[in-house]
Amino acid sequence: MSEPGIENLLHEERTFPPSPAFTAQANAQESLYGEADDDFVAYWMRNAMERLDWITPPTVALDDSDPPFYKWFTDGELNISANCLDRHLANGGDKVAYHWIGEPGDTRTLTYADLSAEVNRFANGLRSLGVEKGDRVAIYMGMVPELAIAMLACARIGAPHSVIFGGFSAESIIDRVHDAQAKMLITCDGAWRRGSVVPLKDNCDVAMASSPSIEHCVVVERTKHGVDMQEGRDVWWHDLVESQADTCEPEIMNAEDLLYILYTSGTTAKPKGIMHTTGGYLTGAATTHSLVFDIKPDTDVYWCAADIGWVTGHTYIVYGPLANHTTSVMYEGTPDYPDKDRLWEIIAEYGVTILYTAPTAIRAFMKWGAEYPERHDLTSLRLLGTVGEPINPEAWMWYHEHIGGSTSPIVDTWWQTETGSIMISPLPGITATKPGSTTHSLPGITAQVVDMDGVPVERGEGGFLTIAKPWPSMLRSIYGDDQRYVDTYWTRYPGRYFPGDGAKLDEEGYLWVLGRVDDVMNVSGHRISTMEVESALVDHDAVAEAAVVGATDEITGQAIAAFVTLRSGYEPTDKLHDELRDHVGMKIGAIAKPRTIIFTPDLPKTRSGKIMRRLLRDISDHRDLGDVTTLANAEIVQAIAEQAEAQTEDD
Ligand code: WTA
Repeated sequence: MSEPGIENLLHEERTFPPSPAFTAQANAQESLYGEADDDFVAYWMRNAMERLDWITPPTVALDDSDPPFYKWFTDGELNISANCLDRHLANGGDKVAYHWIGEPGDTRTLTYADLSAEVNRFANGLRSLGVEKGDRVAIYMGMVPELAIAMLACARIGAPHSVIFGGFSAESIIDRVHDAQAKMLITCDGAWRRGSVVPLKDNCDVAMASSPSIEHCVVVERTKHGVDMQEGRDVWWHDLVESQADTCEPEIMNAEDLLYILYTSGTTAKPKGIMHTTGGYLTGAATTHSLVFDIKPDTDVYWCAADIGWVTGHTYIVYGPLANHTTSVMYEGTPDYPDKDRLWEIIAEYGVTILYTAPTAIRAFMKWGAEYPERHDLTSLRLLGTVGEPINPEAWMWYHEHIGGSTSPIVDTWWQTETGSIMISPLPGITATKPGSTTHSLPGITAQVVDMDGVPVERGEGGFLTIAKPWPSMLRSIYGDDQRYVDTYWTRYPGRYFPGDGAKLDEEGYLWVLGRVDDVMNVSGHRISTMEVESALVDHDAVAEAAVVGATDEITGQAIAAFVTLRSGYEPTDKLHDELRDHVGMKIGAIAKPRTIIFTPDLPKTRSGKIMRRLLRDISDHRDLGDVTTLANAEIVQAIAEQAEAQTEDD
């Protein structure tokens, strides 16, 4: 268990009350809390009925007959793509769904009518290639409009999608495709990243050589750098859709039919396929998107600057915004290309009113300096959000002052791939905020901090975050592994969902989420398992043993620190250091490359042979090591610490 950095988070205790002007126009009302407290099931039923179009409206809200396999709206029927597209066409088909901006500067504007036509054509294309309701479709793309189109087309024909982040390696694709037994893979020839091409199709080619379940690969032409197309298997997107009709009958889906699988790292080397279903997920996405981001469909230009390869993009670039008939900005590239003012330039150009990003990005903006946002007119912004990791008060204040003009409310939103939608967040216009605190559970959500025995703590105490009651957008299971679902989330505190985070309740009842308490790292807001990186390292011939910990990093929150013992015959050289980093990149993806690798003749272990990760974390963060005499090999600790110190001085 890691030590949450309480002192880091709590040193600033300022409160920002909502402005009366914001409150006067806010979507959220204080009374929602009372309504949901009285009857949380009825609260969600009301939202499901009011916010979604049902083919058959549900008569049952929560089915809790087989916990923790909760179900919602079980006799309801709907289609998600129809909710995101068709119902907006009659009065608002010409409204922009996405202002898309390519990294090289090209742009596309897709109205709801355009998006609908594209989705229908591609849905017909999928069907023509033999994809049927229930078949899994893997999607490995850059941030192009076709990514959202592909997801919605899958939803239209009832084929669950599994989006694989475009930064993952070929081996990661193989694991995910295999686990889901996906029949189809959708990709791009390449993606633009800082002016160069990420060879997505080449990665797919490597993956498909070991993925017998894949029958076809559809390829979007984006970078035009030339790729191999295998006759009979690979099809260009533009060829596939060319002759398709732009209407496609949506499949009638039960509320509990699988909408998607999204893999996330757990505490073992094997990623977990998080399962989200149809009715409950969209209820959570639409409700939270409207209340937390205060969406006014007629006037807002909303930008969630995440990647669709992660859950934030699923819920708050695709499903939530489209269900709410929102105009969004979608950007392909990185915030520092061609220069460090790219985001601010886009905000000024499109008149963005709501921006949602991650603390790691904000800390990078801080480091680059206020001169970049100052070059542009950001006065269109009226609301800011953050997600993915705890935000330190300094970064919150910088965001508030330099991006929000000291007036825009900030919503610090806590949630997870598993929760499907935001769980803990201020309601803008209602909640007084404190920099660094996610404040309170949303209406209908019951987050509680408990002690080791599962007893809710008093104000002023810390413990473990739990969710005491089911909610509509919760994961339904781990794909193909119900037991792991029960063991991971529901066993430690029976009757409660355990997300794996530590938290504190302050004297005023505000929640402060302090970070993971398991062996999952959070690097730039991305979850990476220590075990996954360790097994990638020991997969290399030179490595006898490896231990990986999350070290504190000023920008990325945590950084991956690896400690490696080599097999005899191998020397700890700089060349091997780089080779091992690349090996991890090849096994998992560039995001998992360790920041540092320290070679050591042995790893610190307890007498029972367990690696002392806490000690390695202390070494990485240059903390006082305290008493290490209970270790089996205490003398090794000093040697590693000295090496870590030397490596930092070299940097
Ligand atoms: C962390 C991202 C503190 C947390 C949507 C959680 C946060 C994990 C916050 C989920 C926040 C997310 N404050 N920590 N506002 N938001 N986290 O699945 O540790 O990629 O368990 O979902 O990110 O990461 P995931």
